[in-house]
Amino acid sequence: GTVVLAYSGGLDTSCILVWLKEQGYDVITYLANIGQDEDFDAAKKKAESLGAKKVFIEDLRAEFVEEFIWPSVQANAIYEDRYLLGTSVARPCIARRQVQIAKQQGAQYVSHGATGKGNDQVRFELTCYALYPEVKIIAPWRIPEFYNRFLGRKDLMEYAEKHGIPVPVTPKAPWSMDANLMHISYESGILENPKSHAPADLYLMTKNPQDAPNSPDVLEIHFKKGVPVKVIHLQEGKSKDTPLDIFSFLNDIGARHGVGRIDIVENRFIGMKSRGIYETPGGTILYNAHLDIETFTMDREVRKIKQGLGVKFSEMVYNGFWYSPECEFVRHCIDKSQENVEGKVQLSVLKGQVYILGRESPKSLYDQELVSMDVQGDYDPYDASGFIKISAVRLREHHRLQGEALSK
Ligand code: ARG
Ligand code: SIN
Repeated sequence: GTVVLAYSGGLDTSCILVWLKEQGYDVITYLANIGQDEDFDAAKKKAESLGAKKVFIEDLRAEFVEEFIWPSVQANAIYEDRYLLGTSVARPCIARRQVQIAKQQGAQYVSHGATGKGNDQVRFELTCYALYPEVKIIAPWRIPEFYNRFLGRKDLMEYAEKHGIPVPVTPKAPWSMDANLMHISYESGILENPKSHAPADLYLMTKNPQDAPNSPDVLEIHFKKGVPVKVIHLQEGKSKDTPLDIFSFLNDIGARHGVGRIDIVENRFIGMKSRGIYETPGGTILYNAHLDIETFTMDREVRKIKQGLGVKFSEMVYNGFWYSPECEFVRHCIDKSQENVEGKVQLSVLKGQVYILGRESPKSLYDQELVSMDVQGDYDPYDASGFIKISAVRLREHHRLQGEALSK
């Protein structure tokens, strides 16, 4: 049979490629460009030299931003209060194209190099099953003949040498990385000890805030329907207005100032805790800006419900259920909530932080006259006495019945 392998160009998936061939499969390799720093031509040549029947290099950057990052921005998606889901949202994007290729090439099988202990296997495979129900999945890291043969990196290196797989010349960083347009994540290896601090040179995307410039970059981000449509650098006057350009520009600015670094212990879907380090510069700027324009333009009660949906959404995305009925439903609701999330947010970026400076919107629900301490507006302060007294009924009863009422 034919198998479409999600190929990274690295040692693991190169060994998997050759191993699949050994098992008798025709192997098509597929490498998604989602903004990681990679020599795609070299990876293509490598896959061909290792006997891939066909090699697909797919530039998914624009669709990654528009169809996966933007809905996450609308949702204020964040997992366990801190993780902006940079790997989680990329997986359905990558796997979707993988099964498109598999179907189009008449391949019954897909394969990937995710380990048997992680979230990524779940995300890849749930997407594959959802979009190609008949597909058969080969996950070598869950097949005993494979994982018993490749117990460590040494075994992979030996196998590579024996089979003419180019062996990496630069020593591998003592942790595992996953990079895309949205973030870089670091975990495992020496990071597995949750109390050991990350070395300063771990971070590849952002500058150390300590070494960042002493003066801010001041930006204005324009939103429509809850997504950025333009970003203007207010000091330099330049602007960006396509999704990919906007997001890349925010990444550059955020990276320059060391924005969006976190070091956390998180709960994997599989049931274990894992320590992870992330840097999400542009995503962090957008998270803050979107929260601001959303609160400015959205009804209070709608916002509360929507916030709960955002928590649900984040969990579904983390767990791999992007293509599920419940996630479709929640995305639809969140999309509806964003109809009036429109306007401009001005902010400065400095020393690892995002500072909101001001906002304006044609859809603002803010009434300066209503809130003002200087004018009365359409509001009678006299009414507040009753409002507070009625609200106090329950509180007075509660404390009275507990025998604690401060009687007067
Ligand atoms: N723990 C993060 C997540 O589950 C990042 C996973 C990183 N993946 C990787 N293959 N290194 O989303
Ligand atoms: C992996 O297991 O491949 C990376 C970690 C994860 O998916 O959670």
